[in-house]
Amino acid sequence: MMRFLALLALLLLLATSVVANGYGVSHDDAPAGANGYGGGHDDASPEPSKGGGGGGEEEEGPYQEPAYEKPVEGLDAEYYSKTCPQMEAIVHNAVRKAISHDYTLASSLIRLFFHDFAVEGTDGSVLIDVPGQSEKYAEASRTLRGFDLIEEIKKELEAKCHATVSCADILTAAARDAATAVGVPYWSLKYGRKDGKDSIAAEADRLVPMNGQSVTELIRFFQSKGLTIFDLVVLSGAHTIGRATCGAVRPGMCARRKEGTLDRQYGDFLWRRCGAGGDGEYVELDCETPTRFDNKYYENLLHGKGLLDTDQSLVEDSRTKDLVKMFAKPGASDAFVHLFARSMRKLGEVQVLTGNEGEVRRKCSAVNY
Ligand code: HEM
Repeated sequence: MMRFLALLALLLLLATSVVANGYGVSHDDAPAGANGYGGGHDDASPEPSKGGGGGGEEEEGPYQEPAYEKPVEGLDAEYYSKTCPQMEAIVHNAVRKAISHDYTLASSLIRLFFHDFAVEGTDGSVLIDVPGQSEKYAEASRTLRGFDLIEEIKKELEAKCHATVSCADILTAAARDAATAVGVPYWSLKYGRKDGKDSIAAEADRLVPMNGQSVTELIRFFQSKGLTIFDLVVLSGAHTIGRATCGAVRPGMCARRKEGTLDRQYGDFLWRRCGAGGDGEYVELDCETPTRFDNKYYENLLHGKGLLDTDQSLVEDSRTKDLVKMFAKPGASDAFVHLFARSMRKLGEVQVLTGNEGEVRRKCSAVNY
């Protein structure tokens, strides 16, 4: 217990110093050493630092409250307390029931939420169904799941509280309930997000991080949303559960087998599974404890057993490597899941539409007319 508390305190301190220095500061006006882990890294620059490690000079300057810790105008924990008091219970019961029938939906809902967030913040835009045109039809969305469940929940909420609960709020609550169903600690949510009216497939393909990207590209994406390198490493830990398709895995797997950065036995296993298998075949993202939300994902990376090359590259880059090592430590699981919950809350509060922006859709799959 003491060990866990000490580790959590250390990680929180680290996360706080990262966000305190980094949140919402653009590359242009960020002081050197801001926006990143380790103090001594020049993480304002998206290129890897040469020395790794850390221990450089702290930047002087007034403490800036991280933007996500400031209340987001329009979001409120009591938002539905009068208009739809049963909202959270309806989402929670539906998600728990669905996951009890199909455990794989837990990871799929968490991923659906992340993809929605990736394009203009959490606004339910990924749920809009316009064949060939909306985000749902992007290449990046090809294996997304969970749409039907969100639509079912919406239907129930429309019956009980007509035109009140946004799809963005439903998806945010569903992702939280999916995460808690698999062992992530509960985090409270604020509501009042509105639904976006735009959903463009090409935007999803431009913005959603995909396998094959460099750590620099991933960091740029996270920082463009006001998130930090710490958030990148913590949230990538979502890959401790769930699956990827061979189609997504194969290119990186072949390259890494050649380079020798893939554990040999694991490489052989993947080769058997995906070498000749169809693109749609699934492989677990965490080869050791695929259904447990723990820190094995990070340990796997240290042993060359990351499934996605983007995951594996986190341990090869000086800006992220020390964080991976820290999360991989025995006993770090509890700290990891707490910090994961914290970063998930951030995802749901970035770039959201509130007040008169957007709308409350009647169906999650279509904008109102
Ligand atoms: C950092 C950049 C990221 C990249 C490049 C990435 C990429 C991917 C890829 C390629 C897959 C497999 C897709 C398939 O073949 O079906 C996947 C699955 C998944 N991703 Fe990510 N991801 C990233 C970050 C995240 C984040 C931040 C989260 C959540 C907070 C997340 C949650 C998941 C989950 C839960 C799955 C498994 C989905 C399932 O089992 O249905 N990912 N990701």
